[in-house]
Amino acid sequence: MAEEKKDIQVLLSEKRVFEPNPELAANSNVMAWMKKHGLNTLDELLEKCQDIEWFWKEMADELLDFYKPYDKVLEWDAPWAKWFTGGEYNIVHDALDRHMKTDKKNDVCFVFEGETGETKEWTYAEMYSEVNRIANALKSLGVKKGDRVGIYMPMLVELPIAMLACAKIGAIHSVVFSGFSPTAFAERMNDCEAKVAITCDHFWRRGKKVALKDQTDAAMDMAKTVEHVIVYKRDGDPVSWTEGRDHWWHEIAAEQSDECETERMDANDLLYILYTSGTTGRPKGIQHAHAGYALGTATTLKWVFDLQEKDVWWCAADIGWVTGHSYIVYAPMILGAKSVIYEGAPAYPEADRWWEMVERHGVTVLYTSPTAVRAHMRLGEEHPQKHAMKSLRILGSVGEPINPEAWMWYHTYVGKDNCPIMDTWWQTETGHFMITPLPITPLKPGSGTRPFPGISAKVYDEEGNPITNAGGNLVIEKPWPGMLRGLYKDAERYKNVYWSRYDKTYLAGDVTRMDEDGYFWIQGRADDVLNVAGHRIGNSEVESALVSHPKVAEAAVIGKPHELKGESLSAFVVLRKGVEPSEELRAELREHVGVEIGKIARPDEIGFVNDVPKTRSGKIMRRVIRAKAIGEEVGDTSTLANPEAVEEIGKAK
Ligand code: WTA
Repeated sequence: MAEEKKDIQVLLSEKRVFEPNPELAANSNVMAWMKKHGLNTLDELLEKCQDIEWFWKEMADELLDFYKPYDKVLEWDAPWAKWFTGGEYNIVHDALDRHMKTDKKNDVCFVFEGETGETKEWTYAEMYSEVNRIANALKSLGVKKGDRVGIYMPMLVELPIAMLACAKIGAIHSVVFSGFSPTAFAERMNDCEAKVAITCDHFWRRGKKVALKDQTDAAMDMAKTVEHVIVYKRDGDPVSWTEGRDHWWHEIAAEQSDECETERMDANDLLYILYTSGTTGRPKGIQHAHAGYALGTATTLKWVFDLQEKDVWWCAADIGWVTGHSYIVYAPMILGAKSVIYEGAPAYPEADRWWEMVERHGVTVLYTSPTAVRAHMRLGEEHPQKHAMKSLRILGSVGEPINPEAWMWYHTYVGKDNCPIMDTWWQTETGHFMITPLPITPLKPGSGTRPFPGISAKVYDEEGNPITNAGGNLVIEKPWPGMLRGLYKDAERYKNVYWSRYDKTYLAGDVTRMDEDGYFWIQGRADDVLNVAGHRIGNSEVESALVSHPKVAEAAVIGKPHELKGESLSAFVVLRKGVEPSEELRAELREHVGVEIGKIARPDEIGFVNDVPKTRSGKIMRRVIRAKAIGEEVGDTSTLANPEAVEEIGKAK
């Protein structure tokens, strides 16, 4: 066996650079702020904001409204951070209450579109009234400050309403993605000991009605702490009912006043718990608190996606994930934005549903995931080509490394070569963007570019030395406002997972490299790193090389144990629509990887599949693929978005 080399190899080299659009940069929010502070360049901005207490105080003065001013910006006792200590605050005051004192109250907050095509607009004032009614309803069911409320709802405006209603009275919400099973919902409810659950009767997904109330009932048989269930009526078909426990949303809301006083919280009181499944282990209950989280999400959205008065913002994630919490619900509402919420599936009923929606709603900023981009890429560019989408000015990506070719496709066919792509690296744990372009940043396809101002992201080698131009562990050296406040009832695990590898430094769990310009290139999760003949290679480098072939839409690469090489590489490849698998293509793809990144990374095997196993948030599950490919026990696949894809891995030819 070859000698173990610890550093992670850097193979892929992407040379394209896209300069910022001068007009967009000149008129951007971040540029206005820089001018105010006498800063001229991105370097100057990043340098100045290294004084994190100064920077975040400036932003808090601009964006947050405290009931009682704070005493200190930051108290840092690693790994525990407290922001704006002594301050009294509630995020709902900033997201809703204060808008009632201005004309903002009559502006549209959400434009809802159901999968079947119906639309409905909600003004800030309408949101305010409904949030108050549901907040009062929760109180009437005995929910108090600090109690946990579980929310199991699809993409309806009533989901943010339920979240804000909890926050308003100081209860802690825990949203569970509506695509999860009753068991997954129940486990999370038991873990956080939820008192009340909020759900709906049915919803539409890909032309099918999903019976969410039935699933909730099944979960309630297992969730013993939940005393009451509020059920929003989405379509009105009959549902089973447990008297005394179940309450119709419209009935209980109708009994309540549309005024409800917002609970004055300590700035560091908890706002929510969100469980992340990750790719292994028991879900972690990530905790976020009111004021710091509000500041981090609002600042990043204002600067990165440059939200301004005329914008129509569409973050196409599900609110069940952190992306939706931060960038559909809280940050846009704090900024007073107009947002689109879409209930249904992306390419349904037609492949161009999204592009048609962008045009119809005049969407100016669109934020989605590499998985969605690759799925559209697979369907073919003729679909976005049918739509001029002239309103679009900025695009965004989150969730996985975006392969340079997927980036180019998105830029060319969706952005029409006219929109910068903000590739935002962050995590449920970080609460908000950490590494991301700004409208003034030159872009390199496949790179999240540089840390956000005030964020001290670095790459460390195994000994904890900062390194450049070599693969290593992504770390954050100083606290940031949206930083997680530990894991629910599990301080030990919090310390072990994130803070035990390096002293007082946050370990993100991703491997990455920083190039000579200070740009970050995420190579994948540390658990997925490949090991070939002593070389450690990030999976995303090989996958991106495959995706750069014009016939490939998506690829997953895993290592299989190999006597001589340590691991041999197996690739599972999804071809673009209309392309047939063949032996020639297999050879061509191996050769292509050899040319793109080097012979060492050529996959030993390539299997053609229709899909690769993914989590419900769209991340490729390499652990499952590997287990299946080497004939190990795959374990529970019910949390996958597409369990059938696992079988394909076994049969891939
Ligand atoms: C990955 C989603 C590369 C990364 C907000 C991270 C990314 C994990 C990017 C967190 C990106 C997210 N480029 N990788 N732009 N964004 N990731 O908790 O591995 O669902 O650690 O939060 O997704 O996923 P989570």
